[in-house]
Amino acid sequence: MTKVIAFSATKGGVGKTTLAFNFGAYLAKTSNKVLLIDLDHQASMSSNFSLNDEELEKTDIGKVFKSVAKDPSSKLPTVEPVEVTDNLFGLSISQSTDNIDSLMRDLPYACTTVYRLLKDNQLLDRFDYIVCDTHPDLLLATQNALTMANVVFSPVEPSRYGLDSVISMQNDYEKLSNRILSPDGSRLIDGKLAFIANKVKFNTTISHLFMDSIKDDERFVSLFHERELFNQATLDKKSVFDLNNPKVEKIITNEISPQFELMKKYVISGRVDK
Ligand SMILES: Nc1ncnc2c1ncn2[C@@H]1O[C@H](COP(=O)(O)OP(=O)(O)OP(=O)(O)O)[C@@H](O)[C@H]1O
Ligand SMILES: [Mg+2]
Repeated sequence: MTKVIAFSATKGGVGKTTLAFNFGAYLAKTSNKVLLIDLDHQASMSSNFSLNDEELEKTDIGKVFKSVAKDPSSKLPTVEPVEVTDNLFGLSISQSTDNIDSLMRDLPYACTTVYRLLKDNQLLDRFDYIVCDTHPDLLLATQNALTMANVVFSPVEPSRYGLDSVISMQNDYEKLSNRILSPDGSRLIDGKLAFIANKVKFNTTISHLFMDSIKDDERFVSLFHERELFNQATLDKKSVFDLNNPKVEKIITNEISPQFELMKKYVISGRVDK
């Protein structure tokens, strides 16, 4: 069965795109067929796909939203994922998708548009994992990721406000999940919400306090330190696994891959195994 993973946080800049893209690359590297779906109209993840204009049109989720907004009863347009690297495929989003909330406000079940699209295009069963990146909000495009997700990973940075952002994300997610229901009253958003510590510094008081407070916290699945190689990979439009830099190989093998493996195990078993 295909597993769907969404990266979501209402806070910006915490590492959703970086972790979504690199987790997708990790899953692909470990012999899985993976589809990345960019559902953030900032299109940061799609920029890693290096698409030409024709590919951009073929892979664009944005045109699907626009077509439904214009005529909800029309057949959904076709999309064709592009191969980014071995086993890793992508669907992009056009930047003009930022107004879909107002365009689709009154349409029932607009939050299941992407699910319908994947089904209509026979894309659901073609992949072992589908990884969605989202905008820092819980609006319609994000809801389309959340209604499909078996697991929602929410990155959190150490902060002097402790775990406040964890509690507020949990509350927001629960409220949304209680609100968005299918016709029979069951929840359309019922994936497991889990947290990822990200950009943890090595030698600051806040980071130490943060690490202490999450050590035995079952809500946290993995931890990533602040590492320049993530920025380097983003700049090169590559995953950290494709950097081909012998200087960082040890960090990738000993530090980063094991954390992605914990996330993969969590997706498969639903249990934290730190
Ligand atoms: N573990 C890390 N170490 C160092 N830099 C990181 C790490 N994770 C993310 N970054 C950097 O932090 C910046 C923000 O990351 P990213 O774009 O993934 O956040 P985001 O949550 O997707 O942001 P937005 O809310 O704007 O979509 C990027 O420059 C990225 O390279
Ligand atoms: Mg992002």
